[in-house]
Amino acid sequence: MEVPGPVLDAARSAHRVVVVTGAGMSAESGVPTFRDAQTGLWARYAAEDLATPEAWERDPAFVWAWYFSRFGSLAAVEPNAGHRAVATWAEVAGAESVAVVTQNVDDLHERAGSPDVVHLHGSLASFRCSRCDTAYEGRVDVPDAGDAQPERLDPPVCVECGGLVRPGVVWFGELLPLDAWERAVAVVESADLVLVVGTSGLVHPAAGLPVIGRGAGATVVEVNPRETDTSDVAHHVWRATAAVALPALVQALARTG
Ligand SMILES: NC(=O)c1ccc[n+]([C@@H]2O[C@H](COP(=O)([O-])OP(=O)(O)OC[C@H]3O[C@@H](n4cnc5c(N)ncnc54)[C@H](O)[C@@H]3O)[C@@H](O)[C@H]2O)c1
Ligand SMILES: [Zn+2]
Repeated sequence: MEVPGPVLDAARSAHRVVVVTGAGMSAESGVPTFRDAQTGLWARYAAEDLATPEAWERDPAFVWAWYFSRFGSLAAVEPNAGHRAVATWAEVAGAESVAVVTQNVDDLHERAGSPDVVHLHGSLASFRCSRCDTAYEGRVDVPDAGDAQPERLDPPVCVECGGLVRPGVVWFGELLPLDAWERAVAVVESADLVLVVGTSGLVHPAAGLPVIGRGAGATVVEVNPRETDTSDVAHHVWRATAAVALPALVQALARTG
């Protein structure tokens, strides 16, 4: 795929790059985005109604089962060519730094080899008590991807207080972890290029990062097959998918030095 000239120019002249990613980054790995239609048991619900503290209060076993139907098979998915391109960018194409700030709760950037990934919305690899906040290090039984998915699955119980263990992710209506937010703002403010990949720009405050980057002088480029709420903030938009666009960009940078 041909890299649009203005995108290649912006990337070539950038020393400090930040790649801000959302669910679309992992779509070509087979992880569904939030705007994809839900299937099966959960077809009647919008993801935005299940990833909430209220849904958890109402029916924790239902929310727990939903999480594992969506993400339980993460072990079975692989980073795609887009994750790998981001991970090799600095080395292959000579940027001083390529930071990753993600809204994703999967670990595909890490598995592709990106160091220091900032997770704005937590991680599905971590769990904590919903009552006393103690991190949970015990076993989490996950149904196999091929098995029939249960409608309810009892969450583990906290060894400290007997409360229910919840996913270590940020739900709609919850605050972001302050340290992750502060690190994200710091890297975006010192970047020359903010590349926004696969996010709808609807979830705040994450959606504010491209605005902060632009305000601090960075060039903002959006990679997304569709128009989003971030498109207007971007200096350049590239209507392509992550696993196609990012390898094309990094290869073009490597070729043209
Ligand atoms: N993989 C994950 O960890 C995962 C998956 C689903 C949802 N979430 C959570 O969902 C919330 C929703 O916000 P969001 O903006 O990240 O996702 P979103 O679902 O709201 O939007 C996804 C965006 O990705 C774009 N997209 C779809 N396929 C793409 C591709 N192949 N390449 C590039 N872009 C593509 C869509 O056009 C859309 O703009 C986030 O808070 C996140 O925590 C995470
Ligand atoms: Zn507890």
